[in-house]
Amino acid sequence: MNVRILFLVIATALLAPAIVLAQQPAGTEQVGDLSGVKAITIERGLTPEAKNCITCHRAVQPGIVSDWVDSRHGHVGVSCLDCHAVAEDSPTAILHEEVLDMEGYDQNLLDRGVYVSVLVPPSTCARCHPVEVEQFDSSGHFRSFHQIIPKDSLHALVLTHEGRDLPDLKTAPDETGCMQCHGTEIKLDDDGRPTQRTWPNGGMGNIYPDGSTGNCSACHTRHKFSIAEARKPWACASCHLGPDHPDIEIFENSKHGHVYNAEGDSWEWDTAPGAWEPGDYRGPTCATCHMSGIGELRTTHNVSERLYWNGWAKRSEVRNSNDPMSPLLGNGPEGRKKMKQACASCHSEIHTDNFFDQADKAVRLYNEGYYDPAKKMLDELQAKGLLKENPWNDEFQITFYHLWHHEGRRARQGALMGAPDYAHWHGFFELQQDLYKLQDIYEKRLESNSIE
Ligand code: HEC
Ligand code: HEC
Ligand code: HEC
Ligand code: HEC
Ligand code: HEC
Ligand code: HEC
Ligand code: HEC
Ligand code: HEC
Repeated sequence: MNVRILFLVIATALLAPAIVLAQQPAGTEQVGDLSGVKAITIERGLTPEAKNCITCHRAVQPGIVSDWVDSRHGHVGVSCLDCHAVAEDSPTAILHEEVLDMEGYDQNLLDRGVYVSVLVPPSTCARCHPVEVEQFDSSGHFRSFHQIIPKDSLHALVLTHEGRDLPDLKTAPDETGCMQCHGTEIKLDDDGRPTQRTWPNGGMGNIYPDGSTGNCSACHTRHKFSIAEARKPWACASCHLGPDHPDIEIFENSKHGHVYNAEGDSWEWDTAPGAWEPGDYRGPTCATCHMSGIGELRTTHNVSERLYWNGWAKRSEVRNSNDPMSPLLGNGPEGRKKMKQACASCHSEIHTDNFFDQADKAVRLYNEGYYDPAKKMLDELQAKGLLKENPWNDEFQITFYHLWHHEGRRARQGALMGAPDYAHWHGFFELQQDLYKLQDIYEKRLESNSIE
């Protein structure tokens, strides 16, 4: 055992936060290489304090304990304490015996003075996984909630139009909808525990009381935190579905989804990070193209890194920004190069190049053939005062919204991920219908100089 590891074993045995002292500076280690963190824990058994948590919680929530027992964390001895113990002055710190109903449990197992928090922010994972957190913080996923904060029209949609401005009930659409995918700012009650308004939620962009952002269990759920789970398309499907971003449906419609659905259950999903390669699997999943290492390409937790276009905005432009808050986050040409590297392990260059030429043509057709003319009509009606004040009760504005937010995204994302039904029937077919409808309303309003 070298001196560094000896130090780590002693430090981690004392208190989990000490691990932060021993981390290499972010960025110096290999992406996806866990050898650094392995050294911390592999030679450490569980301390008596850590064992006590498990002994009692086996009775309290056997489901949580059995997930943990089955996990890599369980195997290498990363315990409940490592993630849930916090300093006494943490805003989320509680003592079991002061706050929780402990009746029926052997309180002798409780270690007096050990403060715990039900919330586990990404900053806790960052003690042992700094690279993944840094990459996440540079990704479009980081902004999932941050970007909603300033958008008054969306708050009006949720609270007024959907929530009917009912004082006690108007936040329900957020609590059961937006927040479960996008996250929210988690607030605390007087005990330091999360409020009903803000938790539980599985959203991607939670802002925690300590300011750290994200949700590391969005794709590898607690308490297994399994890479096998995150590599399957279902890890993305709970959010990337539906009329406005049907990525799981698009995947299933693609030849890749065909291959996955036909035989994915016999593929090798557990291969170590950085070593998961064709042979373990025959076709790519969401993770393979957007995150995992393949060939020369390294694993990333920045899902924006391999993108060329912005495929969700009203009009698609090439990505060219380092700011995670920018819709154009990423470097388009670099991103395309990386994405093509993911294809290169299984396809020829001409197959990949021609495919992207087909797809890019579809994106440009959407921009120039649909969005631009629709936007021109919208601007003209706006200037002439021929739009209703309530956009959700105005046939023109609703159709315009569907054109970019639903049909337009389906056409673009369907084309870029090889899904003909979404590119065509749910995409361009409906786009031309939208455009004719917009032209009709536009002409009627101009002729009559009034809103029908
Ligand atoms: C003697 C039994 C016992 C021991 C020992 C114990 N817990 Fe608990 N724990 C409980 C009970 C009971 C609850 C409340 C369960 C509920 O609300 O459903 C709880 C709740 C929690 C919660 C949720 C807190 C909240 O705000 O609701 C966390 C996190 C937690 N325990 C972690 C730990 C950790 C970490 C340890 C080891 C340091 C530990 N527990 C030791 C019995 C125990
Ligand atoms: C690798 C870190 C990690 C470890 C180890 C860990 N947890 Fe958790 N735990 C989490 C995360 C993340 C959450 C979700 C909290 C949030 O939403 O911020 C959570 C949530 C919880 C909750 C509330 C969830 C619910 O569904 O009610 C309890 C209780 C809990 N953990 C107990 C435990 C116990 C007991 C152990 C040990 C067997 C343990 N945890 C080990 C990370 C961890
Ligand atoms: C005390 C250090 C520590 C903390 C805190 C920690 N981890 Fe880990 N994590 C490890 C170690 C050690 C491994 C196993 C490395 C190996 O497999 O060689 C691991 C493995 C993993 C894996 C790979 C699992 C697999 O199936 O191979 C994931 C995913 C993961 N951690 C996520 C998290 C998340 C999310 C958090 C925060 C909620 C977290 N970890 C907190 C140390 C930690
Ligand atoms: C908990 C919900 C959730 C899960 C699970 C999820 N995402 Fe996302 N994803 C989002 C949200 C919300 C956004 C939009 C972020 C924004 O622009 O505000 C997003 C955006 C993206 C983007 C576009 C980023 C950009 O820069 O525009 C990609 C690519 C992406 N996700 C891929 C994935 C993949 C691949 C998975 C699974 C491995 C996944 N996501 C799992 C919620 C999720
Ligand atoms: C089922 C999960 C889910 C729900 C519910 C959801 N979103 Fe999203 N949202 C996403 C995903 C995934 C993306 C990324 C789309 C993409 O990259 O193509 C996204 C993108 C966005 C964007 C950026 C693109 C844009 O349209 O400007 C905003 C803003 C947004 N969502 C706001 C909201 C609001 C507000 C709500 C509730 C009224 C909501 N979302 C409900 C998953 C969801
Ligand atoms: C969008 C989905 C998604 C989110 C969110 C996510 N992960 Fe992962 N994670 C994955 C996938 C997919 C892999 C497997 C990559 C591969 O194939 O090797 C993975 C692998 C890992 C590993 C194993 C080492 C590696 O890099 O392959 C660790 C550790 C890890 N994640 C930690 C985290 C932490 C910490 C966070 C929060 C900042 C987080 N993850 C958030 C999808 C996600
Ligand atoms: C064969 C590789 C591949 C697979 C598999 C794949 N994608 Fe994609 N994805 C792409 C490509 C290529 C693009 C377009 C990138 C660009 O801008 O050139 C894209 C675009 C996206 C976008 C739009 C990003 C934006 O700019 O708005 C999202 C979101 C997304 N993918 C999520 C997913 C999800 C979720 C899955 C699985 C259900 C998945 N992808 C499966 C290759 C893939
Ligand atoms: C792990 C291997 C693998 C990776 C990586 C991969 N594909 Fe595929 N792809 C396949 C297989 C297998 C098929 C089915 C071949 C058939 O139809 O006989 C396929 C089919 C296709 C098809 C349908 C047309 C055809 O030739 O059958 C397209 C288009 C395609 N892939 C594009 C891509 C693109 C673009 C990428 C990278 C973003 C990519 N693939 C990454 C394995 C892969």
